[in-house]
Amino acid sequence: MSGAGAGRLVGRTVGLGITGSIAAFKAVELLRLLQAEGADVRVLATPSALRFVAPLTLAALSRHPVDADVLDLPPDGRIGHIATASEADAIVVAPATANWLGAMANGLAADPITAACLATRAPVVVAPAMDGEMYAHPATRANVARLRDFGYRIVEPELGPLASGQVGVGRLAALPQIVAAVVAAVAGAPDRRDLAGRHVVVTAGGTAEPIDPVRFVGNRSSGRMGVAVAEAALGRGARVTLIVGHVAVPLPPAAAVVRAETTGAMREALLAALDAGDGRTGFDALVMAAAVADFRPTRPAGTKLARGSALTLELEPTPDLLAEVVRRVRGLGPDGLPAAPALVPAPVLVGFAAETGSLARAADKLARKGVDLLVANDVAEPGSGFGTETNRVTLYARSAEPEAWPLLSKRAVAERLLDRVVALLSPDRASPPGGAPATDDRVPSSVQEVPS
Ligand code: CTP
Repeated sequence: MSGAGAGRLVGRTVGLGITGSIAAFKAVELLRLLQAEGADVRVLATPSALRFVAPLTLAALSRHPVDADVLDLPPDGRIGHIATASEADAIVVAPATANWLGAMANGLAADPITAACLATRAPVVVAPAMDGEMYAHPATRANVARLRDFGYRIVEPELGPLASGQVGVGRLAALPQIVAAVVAAVAGAPDRRDLAGRHVVVTAGGTAEPIDPVRFVGNRSSGRMGVAVAEAALGRGARVTLIVGHVAVPLPPAAAVVRAETTGAMREALLAALDAGDGRTGFDALVMAAAVADFRPTRPAGTKLARGSALTLELEPTPDLLAEVVRRVRGLGPDGLPAAPALVPAPVLVGFAAETGSLARAADKLARKGVDLLVANDVAEPGSGFGTETNRVTLYARSAEPEAWPLLSKRAVAERLLDRVVALLSPDRASPPGGAPATDDRVPSSVQEVPS
């Protein structure tokens, strides 16, 4: 990130609609500028836009497939423009051609950008670019006026030399001006900075337990779910520490990232984060989305094992990190009996449970782990497994019936989960050290004694 206003879109999702003007090449730079502000950018394009700028460029830079056909289904089976419409904090159409303005003014949803704009509740920013005479035509003026009536923010084109060789009002506005309009539009969106002043620790990805210096025992976790929680928490104003094992997705630049390849390293990182050093708990919430190994090689080899005949690995169980954090928070020893004062204020503790075939064990896991919330999913179900963009989860909370959520994007799961975390946060947590200690009347005493 660079520039005076860097980070103004951290944790935000922006839909970038590109239509078929020669200025489409500038959309590549606009994408970069939005990313530099911290935005996750999803590109929607009309077929003619893709004659000016290659989808490979846009997909590679945005790290998402380009949605170019309103009838196309992306690999995860969702409808691309509807997914963008529901997840975007803003949609910016730049450049917008006269043809697209006409389609939008009349609600003709033949392209994914118009369709997404019709389907979204997010603010829409439109930056037209075309020949000066075309922009001045009453038809275009009427279409622009209609878009203003919808509440869309119009970033007026500038006076300058045009592709035709003429000089007129039709040049795409300066890119920083378009970025500023997106920032302003997002700022006008409903305020969800309900985690401002809070510290959220998220674990993500899978641990890798060494067999020898080259090989490891690992798992299929991509880290997507944990990273989505981290991004959502950042977007809601939290300070985020992201403790990651092996991940296959980019990490949000605004998070403090701690690399923890093994269960042992992840344990150390968690315990370090738990203790703020001033007698208070170091975080307000822990979301344990990492796929922590349950077993690790008992005696990893110090040098690379040579290829030979069959190899038998002896595995030992790893410590249960979440259970240990819960015990320390509640002041319990390894035997589950009171051993020390409980930490104040009590953080909200969230576990995940990846099951296969049935969620029958999840309620028991909630009690066994002693967490406030447990997010369970069946990783064998289509759209819910490792590496997918979506998840279908059931939320388990104490003294409440399990809630089965529909198939959602991982980001939407993260937002819903954070809604629940926010509702459970200790009210005085944001007060400075030395303030009145929180009484944890949230946790029933029967649950404070967690079996190890
Ligand atoms: N977890 C942990 N330490 C471990 C294993 C798991 O902290 N050694 C955490 C995971 O990050 C997750 C939760 O515990 O938040 C549940 O993980 P899961 O693998 O579903 O449960 P297990 O405790 O391993 O129980 P089981 O093997 O019986 O499914």
